[in-house]
Amino acid sequence: MKERVLTHLKGAGADWISGGRLSIKMGMTRTAVWKQICRLRDEGYVIDSSRGKGYVLRRVSDSLLPAEIQSHLKTDFMGREIIYRPEVESTNSLAKSLAVRGAPAGTIVVAESQAAGKGRKGRVWFSPPGAGIYVSMILRPHFSLAEATKFTLLTGVALAETLLCLLPGRVEIKWPNDVLVDGRKIAGILIEISTEIDRIDYMVVGVGVNVNLKRQDFPPELKKIATSLRAETGKYFSRAAILADFLAAFEKYYGVFQDFGFAPVLARWKRLSNILEKEVQVSLLGSTIAGRVSGIDRDGALLIRGRRGCVQRILSGDMTLLRKPDVRRRRKSAAGNK
Ligand code: BTN
Repeated sequence: MKERVLTHLKGAGADWISGGRLSIKMGMTRTAVWKQICRLRDEGYVIDSSRGKGYVLRRVSDSLLPAEIQSHLKTDFMGREIIYRPEVESTNSLAKSLAVRGAPAGTIVVAESQAAGKGRKGRVWFSPPGAGIYVSMILRPHFSLAEATKFTLLTGVALAETLLCLLPGRVEIKWPNDVLVDGRKIAGILIEISTEIDRIDYMVVGVGVNVNLKRQDFPPELKKIATSLRAETGKYFSRAAILADFLAAFEKYYGVFQDFGFAPVLARWKRLSNILEKEVQVSLLGSTIAGRVSGIDRDGALLIRGRRGCVQRILSGDMTLLRKPDVRRRRKSAAGNK
């Protein structure tokens, strides 16, 4: 109800909308409309009221509150159920416990901040209040565990497309799951899966996006390697609108994957990625592989050609792009070998 009242208030822009008109549009009494206005005010919306004129929305809540997300939402099932917390340890951890208790597919968990946001490989995801999108989506796909890597790539495509609309031509995906702007990380993905034999029971797709952090907000160790939409543009963004766009993009590619298989998603991923033919190093459990990226196979695995020409297939790892070798230094060391 309050989402619909909010939509009408937003639609009126800076104009007043009378209580009578609102109650006709909503099919409810004026008192019921008033109750929804009070609930919206409690959530941080500034709504003026006047006896003769009605209501006007003065300031939208800059939050990830369900009403704010829903007012932008264009999906069929993603985000139709929203669990919101001002603060949480990790949205992924909360989503997992809700999934165990039977939360339906499409449920999302969002938070304004995370005390212990999880990154890949046990790292921490910097999650200051109100500055980023911290969301975890619960899914129950009818796929085998072997298909799981594909979801990382699919999520990367949806995320990169969403951010490309805001930073045209500047967003790239680094295998398997980092979204970069000019080499700096703007978003990351952490997927956690619970299986039964070889069947996925549930999957939690966690996404962190740096939105309104200023460059100086990042801790020293992240300043050179991370960025945000605000740091790149100097502008302030609506996190709820971006989240809604991302959910729509995710739902679209999820549907493509279900109906037509992974090939069209992978084709899009390849166009958005920056790694083909690049020199890279990949850390696996206890070892490192270096070489040139010769491709991504149909399962989303990275193919790396080593110095001796043999190609290795890597399904999961941590990849670093190596800088092109410095020609002068290479000549010098070659001379030293003589
Ligand atoms: C990475 O690139 O290392 C993955 C980062 C994933 C961070 C998000 S923020 C929302 C969700 N909840 C978590 O605890 N982590 C993910």
